[in-house]
Amino acid sequence: MNTQIGDVLGVGLPLATVALLALVSMVQLELGPFARLAAPGKWLLTGAFGMGVLAFCFKMTVALLIATAPERLVAPLAATPLRPAPLFAAPRAVAGPSGPVRPARHAWAALPDVAPAPPHNPTTPARVALGERLFQETRLSGDGTLSCASCHDLHGKAGGDGRATARGIAGKVGPRNTPTVWNAAFQSVLFWDGRARSLEEQATGPILNPIEMGLPSPAEAERRLGADSGYRAAFAAAFGDEAITFERIAMAIAAFERTLVTPDAPYDRFVRGDASALSPAQLRGMALFEALGCVTCHAGPAFSDASLLVEGMPLRFFPANPTPYEKKYRLLTEGTAGERGAWRVPSLRNVALTGPYFHNGAVDDLAEAVRVMATAQLNLALDTAPARGSYWLSEQHELHRTEQRTLTERDVADIVAFLRALSSDRLAARAGK
Ligand code: HEC
Ligand code: HEC
Repeated sequence: MNTQIGDVLGVGLPLATVALLALVSMVQLELGPFARLAAPGKWLLTGAFGMGVLAFCFKMTVALLIATAPERLVAPLAATPLRPAPLFAAPRAVAGPSGPVRPARHAWAALPDVAPAPPHNPTTPARVALGERLFQETRLSGDGTLSCASCHDLHGKAGGDGRATARGIAGKVGPRNTPTVWNAAFQSVLFWDGRARSLEEQATGPILNPIEMGLPSPAEAERRLGADSGYRAAFAAAFGDEAITFERIAMAIAAFERTLVTPDAPYDRFVRGDASALSPAQLRGMALFEALGCVTCHAGPAFSDASLLVEGMPLRFFPANPTPYEKKYRLLTEGTAGERGAWRVPSLRNVALTGPYFHNGAVDDLAEAVRVMATAQLNLALDTAPARGSYWLSEQHELHRTEQRTLTERDVADIVAFLRALSSDRLAARAGK
């Protein structure tokens, strides 16, 4: 039974009962004696007055029957269809960024100077020093040619490799672009698909990955480093005893990575109070970044919903809306299905220094990456006629109209200018940009 009928019965039944009682007592005690009626006369009068109440009860019964009968039986009786016919859908998907709705005003914040560390792996100087050494250690690769730093060039390439996709051991080319390790310590999940939950967990991956560093086993890493007395002393200093385990190798590397933070961008200086740190174009770009909704996913001081600094949704569909770019840059997942993949929202810190862009490194130019995002993630139109459409919310019985917002080339340039303000001064100087 639906709730409306429940309401009708809840009010109707007591009302009818009270009306009947009032009627009977009125006729028996007041009207009957007044008109000097005998018993049969009184009941006749009660019946005459009672017809109204009876009719009311009959109507309620009919309403109850219709409400509880199967729709199949009732539909032919109704003059208009019970459900409105579906209206046409919008020409393009209207789904905008999905996920928790943020307050209308976005709170801008600078990056903290220190990255948070888990209780079991404090960022001590001894662990950081050991981790830095391990980060450059080529003995951690199968043929002794590669270290973490081979693909994560901390200074020349701002923590990436500048290639579309990574080149591993014996020149093997991988499927994914190398993300920067700078500020990775602020991310809640790592890798393009978010499959690692901590830097400790992440660090063991590439060492054993056959197309990255290609070491046959954890025991091989422990054996190679154990043969070096310098390493035995460094592990003792960092962990209290000489035991060299694969787990400790990962812990030391993670401790070092937690020192790779860049709170020294023009954006940080601006947010901390230096009003002249951003140019007028960068300020316009910053306003657009908020107004268009980039902040929905690239939130907080790390500009990522997959950051420890915000509570957000780490993974998002990309491309979320159909765009001409998905073919051009092969953005749908590999294989025959061609699905929209769910990807970790990357941090945009130092993004101007870390091209090519996206999980497959298919886009070289930052302005083009912004155009892809605007169309794919926010369903914006680029200088073309904006698409119009409407959609019907059947629950609310509301018809909504949609019109795409457009992004001009000037807007794109301003957003790029703002993204450049997220580059660390130190890294930009070293990368020569
Ligand atoms: C052959 C090149 C290569 C080498 C060597 C390499 N990496 Fe990577 N690194 C990558 C690629 C490619 C990814 C992204 C892989 C993916 O998402 O599936 C990655 C991802 C990462 C990430 C995640 C960053 C993020 O934002 O999600 C970290 C951290 C990282 N590597 C650290 C290391 C460490 C530590 C080492 C050495 C133990 C290392 N890498 C060795 C290519 C490399
Ligand atoms: C609905 C969520 C969402 C919105 C909104 C969004 N992005 Fe993204 N952004 C992502 C995801 C997910 C990726 C990673 C895509 C991939 O796997 O290649 C990404 C990647 C990027 C990259 C490439 C980063 C790199 O290192 O390769 C840039 C630049 C970027 N976004 C800028 C923007 C800008 C500017 C806006 C606003 C116009 C925006 N994004 C809006 C989710 C979003």
